[in-house]
Amino acid sequence: MRKVGIIGGGNVGATCAYQVASRGTADVAVYDIVEGVPAGKALDMSQVGPIFGFDGRVTGSHDVSIIEGSEVVVVTAGFPRKPGMDRMDLLRKNADIAKASGEAIKKYAPDAIVVCVTNPLDVMTWTTQQATGFDASRVVGMAGVLDSARFSTFIAMELGCSPIDVKAMVLGGHGDSMVPLPRFSTVGGVPITELMPADRIEALSDRTRNGGAEIVKLLGTGSAYYAPGAAAALMVDAILNDSDRLLPCSAYLDGVYGLSGMYCGVPVHLGAKGVSKIVELDLDEAELEMLKASAASVASGIADVQSLGASAS
Ligand code: LAC
Repeated sequence: MRKVGIIGGGNVGATCAYQVASRGTADVAVYDIVEGVPAGKALDMSQVGPIFGFDGRVTGSHDVSIIEGSEVVVVTAGFPRKPGMDRMDLLRKNADIAKASGEAIKKYAPDAIVVCVTNPLDVMTWTTQQATGFDASRVVGMAGVLDSARFSTFIAMELGCSPIDVKAMVLGGHGDSMVPLPRFSTVGGVPITELMPADRIEALSDRTRNGGAEIVKLLGTGSAYYAPGAAAALMVDAILNDSDRLLPCSAYLDGVYGLSGMYCGVPVHLGAKGVSKIVELDLDEAELEMLKASAASVASGIADVQSLGASAS
């Protein structure tokens, strides 16, 4: 059986683990710093095997060596956002965790493809990639799949249609400056710009940008995890099956869209080697400006992490 490691057994990590395990195509190993919890959750998930009929083994431990030999490692470890807290506020707390996660992956799963979920997403993906020393194509961030799913959900709710027919595209960093792209978002192949007025599209785009915060506010404590966990599991599927899916993911930019030196959400081909290709859409001036502004905010987060690293050493 193939193996998927999950670093961080909180709500997002456990939801992702459960989704991956229930496919029955891989063993799942969950690491969390809290003693007992990952083993308990893993045992609970294992007991779904006889009910739903999957045969992958789910294990959990507070010893990170449990991820040894994983083909894919998902990193969800980190503090979640609290109400009123910006994703960037998490920077200092989560950078150390991302570094430790990257180092553990380098040691125990040196051939893995890495899917990062920890916020602030694009900056932590860079931080993890730096710690692994892996080629950037092997470390990818989960945000566009989630943000696009949120946009798709709101479009389906607005039009009263099945979400299955909605294919939305959201690029940029996973933050307030993310870039929903109505021209590249379709229902049954029809661009949404043909299906609703501009002011409604703008309202749905805004709701998407605030999609995470809306849930944080409603929950009162913690942040979203069903859709984030599912989105990460979908990326794991694409990697394990080498399906070369075209998905919006946070990828390392090295000249595309006129951007370099940061991770940011762009359409990529995702398969067994990680990101095999970045697709450069023909964005109009306004779309490109928004993408550049979003990438600039990621770049400033990366500079902050670099300065934290410098002051620590
Ligand atoms: C969200 C968190 C996971 O967007 O960033 O819900």
